[in-house]
Amino acid sequence: MCGIVGYIGSRDAKEILLHGLEKLEYRGYDSAGIFVINEENNGHLFKEKGRIAALRSKVDNAVEANAGIGHTRWATHGEPSVRNAHPHQSADGRFTIVHNGVIENYQEVKDAYLEHVDLVSETDTEIIVQLIAWFAETEDLDTVSAFKKAIVALEGSYAIALVDNTDPEVVYAAKNKSPLLLGKGDGFNVICSDAMAMIKETNQFVELMDKEIAVVTREELIIENFSGERIERQSYTAELDSNDLEKGTYPYYMLKEIDEQPAVMRRLVLKYQDEDDNLTIDPEIVSAMTKSDRIYIIAAGTSYHAGLVGKELIEEMTNIPTEVHISSEFGYHTPLLSENPFFIFISQSGETADSRQVLVKMNEMNYPSLTITNVAGSTLSRESTYTLLLHAGPEIAVASTKAYTAQIAVLAILSEVVGSEKGLIKEPNMIQDLGIVANAMQSLVDEKDTIESLASDYLSITRNAFYIGRGMDYHVALEAALKLKEISYIQTEGFAAGELKHGTIALIEKGTPVIALVTEKSVAGHTRGNLQETKARGAHTMVISMDGLDRPDDHIVIPKVNPILSPLVSVIPTQLLSYYCSLHRGNDVDKPRNLAKSVTVE
Ligand code: AGP
Ligand code: GLU
Repeated sequence: MCGIVGYIGSRDAKEILLHGLEKLEYRGYDSAGIFVINEENNGHLFKEKGRIAALRSKVDNAVEANAGIGHTRWATHGEPSVRNAHPHQSADGRFTIVHNGVIENYQEVKDAYLEHVDLVSETDTEIIVQLIAWFAETEDLDTVSAFKKAIVALEGSYAIALVDNTDPEVVYAAKNKSPLLLGKGDGFNVICSDAMAMIKETNQFVELMDKEIAVVTREELIIENFSGERIERQSYTAELDSNDLEKGTYPYYMLKEIDEQPAVMRRLVLKYQDEDDNLTIDPEIVSAMTKSDRIYIIAAGTSYHAGLVGKELIEEMTNIPTEVHISSEFGYHTPLLSENPFFIFISQSGETADSRQVLVKMNEMNYPSLTITNVAGSTLSRESTYTLLLHAGPEIAVASTKAYTAQIAVLAILSEVVGSEKGLIKEPNMIQDLGIVANAMQSLVDEKDTIESLASDYLSITRNAFYIGRGMDYHVALEAALKLKEISYIQTEGFAAGELKHGTIALIEKGTPVIALVTEKSVAGHTRGNLQETKARGAHTMVISMDGLDRPDDHIVIPKVNPILSPLVSVIPTQLLSYYCSLHRGNDVDKPRNLAKSVTVE
């Protein structure tokens, strides 16, 4: 949540910061701001409510500056407004900061140290900058010492970039829980929440770890811990293709990302194949999983929905009992664990704070863990024992699509390799099955016109909608409903088809859209029966079925694939229905209201 950038060098800092913020806008878009400064100590602050484009038009092009910091906000404390937009400044005007995260004890800090200060914003962030100024002034501390003393007093999560307006040759940074990278250049250095923001400037990045401070000048990156010990850390090369970050001729990233799914399936097979064309997974992961008596999948949102499918795949192919948990629940209400648990964290971004707090706790208990993520080097990847990558390319649209299908495909590959190792699978067939899936996905993304007209017919004016299904189709119904609600703002429920009649059917009115997913033979008749029950009460019904189980009146028939992989294909029309519904309603498909891509606060 929220994006931070910083730059110090000799070029036009405004442009570099604005470009960086544009690349981070998916992380939050309530308001944005930059503070830039030049060698003569002339500082300029620009803030605007809403998108980066609005900020850009407010920035004075005549300002010359070679250093600065910027922020795109996802409000946690205080409404989205210019007043609450970052950067925030100390009352004496000396210090300027941007912050990502939540300061949980901001009220206590205010009461203890800052009663004399008239705060100008409602944010928790402003407390930090006022506290730095307070320590610098009252204890006559240098900037690093005042910064350190202030953040030691804070509880919560933060990634911070700080400028001391009396010394424009340095930008400071610190982090705890929220992500922050330092980027190395030739005669310049940068700070960013995500390498995407600065990949145009450099591909050499150094991670800042929790409870570390960085002193960044144009020539040097100095990292130290809170006790003042210097930390040497090698940079890594971010393997990001800047072309992947553009949407090309697509009107929205979401459509591009939906279309990329067949290619992602094929790429995954190649990435997880050995020289003999067999699927392969790091033997240590296979061995750790095989030794485990129970697998715990931990995730949030769409990744949780991929986990629900993953449970079925793991149990079916490996015979290891598997539970799936919402990360924000699991960490604070941990169930009784088995003797040898193995944790799988699923996270597109690898930064989700809810999931990370679970990983931190499980690490304290020395349990082995695997992160399945799209982002190499992300926090969850670094902090878990093992990582498997999604190789899906950057996912920019807030609504997750290709990450969901890639997560399921990786779980399928993992399950087959573990199942084969355990001697449960004699004739592995996942490579062929995923090839069939890729072709089926392709045929569906080629059917956009049909799906667009179904979206107009069913979803243009309704206030609510239902997806129903059983088994795998129920898992997809949950994901389909989340996708529709988050970008169309239609109140949508994903429901176990058989459960509807136990109460929820009371919500069906004349014209309520009910979409049934029918891909599983053993329950197809029951689901169709449940759909008829809603139709009898006025619902506007639609069927998405699988070839072989279809009936003449079905609206979308997905090609036949291995039934345990059906979610990979049945989800595609639901993604497209959401996309077109959001588009027709005039919403910003990629940046739905109230949301952000990377949820780095609990
Ligand atoms: C997906 O469309 C959502 N925007 C959201 O539920 C997301 O899947 C969730 O926040 C988890 O993110 P992660 O995969 O990066 O951990
Ligand atoms: N808590 C801060 C605020 O509400 C930062 C939020 C963010 O990470 O964007 O301004």
